[in-house]
Amino acid sequence: TAGRVRFVNRLAIPPLATGRRDGSGRRVFELRAGAGNRRLRPGRPTPTWGFDDGHLGPTLRAARGETVVVNVRNELAEATTVHWHGMHLPAVMDGGPHQPIRPGATWSPTWRLDQPAATLWYHPHPHGRTGQHVYRGMAGLFIVDDPAAGSPDLPGRYGVDDIPVIVQDKNFGDDNRFDESTPLIGGVGILGDTLLVNGTLAPYHDVTAERTRLRLLNASNARTYGFGLSDGRPFALIGTDGGLLPAPHVTDRVRLSPGERAEIVVTMRPDERVVLRSYPPDLGADFWTSRVTGGDDTMDVLELRAAGSLSPSPALPGTLAETPALGAAGDRVDRGFELSGFEINGRTMDMSRIDFGVGRDTTEIWEITNFDVLPHNFHVHGTQFQVLSVNGAAPPPELGGWKDTIYTPRETPIRIAVRFGGHADPDTPYMFHCHLLFHEDLGMMGQFVVTEPGV
Ligand code: C2O
Ligand code: CU
Repeated sequence: TAGRVRFVNRLAIPPLATGRRDGSGRRVFELRAGAGNRRLRPGRPTPTWGFDDGHLGPTLRAARGETVVVNVRNELAEATTVHWHGMHLPAVMDGGPHQPIRPGATWSPTWRLDQPAATLWYHPHPHGRTGQHVYRGMAGLFIVDDPAAGSPDLPGRYGVDDIPVIVQDKNFGDDNRFDESTPLIGGVGILGDTLLVNGTLAPYHDVTAERTRLRLLNASNARTYGFGLSDGRPFALIGTDGGLLPAPHVTDRVRLSPGERAEIVVTMRPDERVVLRSYPPDLGADFWTSRVTGGDDTMDVLELRAAGSLSPSPALPGTLAETPALGAAGDRVDRGFELSGFEINGRTMDMSRIDFGVGRDTTEIWEITNFDVLPHNFHVHGTQFQVLSVNGAAPPPELGGWKDTIYTPRETPIRIAVRFGGHADPDTPYMFHCHLLFHEDLGMMGQFVVTEPGV
């Protein structure tokens, strides 16, 4: 299908929340999970869920080295959680299924930010219900800055030339309600025929600078996108899940499976218009059919409209971030993960089972292989990893930086180096799972703990 759109709505920019300083210098944020009603398209407003004003959530922003506190109050009628996707933090602060927030309760995780500048995100993670909560609209960005790293000269004016692009596909049912039904055929979960970007249908953004940085987040339940520009112009990929790449990578496509992020820089001339579109993503094929996985779809995402005169932007730096190598392609594999039949290594999630322990401040080499007839991906909590090889070969440039979620093409072993720094807790697990939320909720997930070395 070709989802062509007439762009009629100005792109909403999630409000930026920088919190307040408390007496001990901590940066304190408030988040309120609740239900809302949003006029998303003509006709009735759509019942939604979200943070603060009932759909999606503010962009939280803080700097490396700061201690943050987030007071999350749950005003929903059921328990939820808030998971800090991509964050290095103690397992008790992680917001997975073991940290439920009851209706009316407030949960106040606190941790010290200690990782490179990155576009992270937050979303609920209640056991078996993540797909529903995220689909209803609960998701927001968490931008980490790292001033000490000598920030490269990149477009950085939030909402002006540094734009969050949170992409979700929806189906609208009667009365404009989100249709939550999951098709039985296909097996990937909900694939929507309508895209919302930051909650805006058919959005355009007025470009006022020569270069615009887009922080792309795939916050969809099942769909994998192949982002490109409608006139085929190249753009620069500058960052992935956990930070900036070592150097800009000029390309014309970026594939994002659910949960992944990419930062790209688009260069425009005055008065130009170009559409950010999703083209059939390279899923690595051999799956059942790509029709049921959404792999055949072309969908308009966002129109960029350049003004008649554009403010100058600095040229892209040749190098972006130093990324010390955690391992080498030839390193011995410590652990293997086989994805098949909605299971990982033949098991589904059991909240009372710890699958393994890893030592604090150790690096392990993991090999992940998708043996299924369906696409999957693989996400690890509490850390950012590096890709050592894909099917035995060196990773392509787009996998050359920090990642927390990786698409797993069929029968393609992927080796990653994962470091577990900082936070040991033998009693509270972190998760690893497929981030196609239907699969995750079916239990395609396991748990590990980080222990003191030698324990
Ligand atoms: Cu974005 Cu375990 O999740
Ligand atoms: Cu999966």
